[in-house]
Amino acid sequence: MARNVVISGGGTGIGLAAARVFAAGGDRVLLLGRRAEVLEKAGVPGALTHAADLAETEDVRGVASFVEREFGAVDVLVHSAGGSGLLEPDAGIADPLAGLAHTWTVNFRLNTLTAVLLTEALKPRLAEPGGRVLFLSSIAAYRGSGSGAYAAAKAGLHPYAHDLARQLGPRGITVNVVAPGYIEDTEFFGDAMAEERRARLIGETSTGRAGTPGDVAETLHWLASPGAGHITSQIIQVNGGAERGH
Ligand SMILES: NC(=O)c1ccc[n+]([C@@H]2O[C@H](COP(=O)([O-])OP(=O)(O)OC[C@H]3O[C@@H](n4cnc5c(N)ncnc54)[C@H](OP(=O)(O)O)[C@@H]3O)[C@@H](O)[C@H]2O)c1
Repeated sequence: MARNVVISGGGTGIGLAAARVFAAGGDRVLLLGRRAEVLEKAGVPGALTHAADLAETEDVRGVASFVEREFGAVDVLVHSAGGSGLLEPDAGIADPLAGLAHTWTVNFRLNTLTAVLLTEALKPRLAEPGGRVLFLSSIAAYRGSGSGAYAAAKAGLHPYAHDLARQLGPRGITVNVVAPGYIEDTEFFGDAMAEERRARLIGETSTGRAGTPGDVAETLHWLASPGAGHITSQIIQVNGGAERGH
């Protein structure tokens, strides 16, 4: 039976790849993101789109109304919205401490708040039993990310997912986190990735290659399947062995 799948960050990268996999399996997909034109051009067959900044409560309320109207129940909720903050507009803050506060706030809003607000707004609509909530963390949550802000914002999703899994388990809903390593062909790194950095990241893997959005999408699709019904409160790493299991 066709499921209703809501995907934040569904217009690009990993979210878009996930949307294609779910749609190919016959599911109904709703793509969320801030840029309406990106969502409309995504070209996922049969997909609905709705533009919203998921760090803004009013926008999230708008998503909840849209979902109620168009879907009723949500079978699968995939949180792919996020980023390192480097692609966000430069706030032009000269004071170092104020700049730091801005960087950490931006990362928290992009990666943590987007996922928490959308989850809480759609929680009453999650299908029971069988609902699935899937967060996107990162290898950075285990290793740091340079400034620490992005890594901390992603790591914050882990305890939230554990609390949610405990809360929703009795309703037959699972909650898991997928933590990718380096994934190519997304907007995450902007226009350019230095060849030296790319080679270093690939060199860390046991598979000798970069990850693809499809690698992550297939993992999300599997976690959303009935066969994964006893997997909950887990962090699943998709990184070619760059960070070993723990
Ligand atoms: N690529 C990697 O190597 C990698 C590794 C580990 C984890 N991840 C994580 O995987 C997820 C997907 O990233 P990606 O690699 O596919 O990069 P991406 O192509 O940049 O996708 C991120 C998506 O999030 C959306 N988004 C950002 N802020 C939003 C907001 N406030 N409200 C609604 N949508 C928002 C963006 O669209 P708009 O700008 O139009 O809103 C974009 O479509 C992210 O959470 C990222 O942190 C990526």
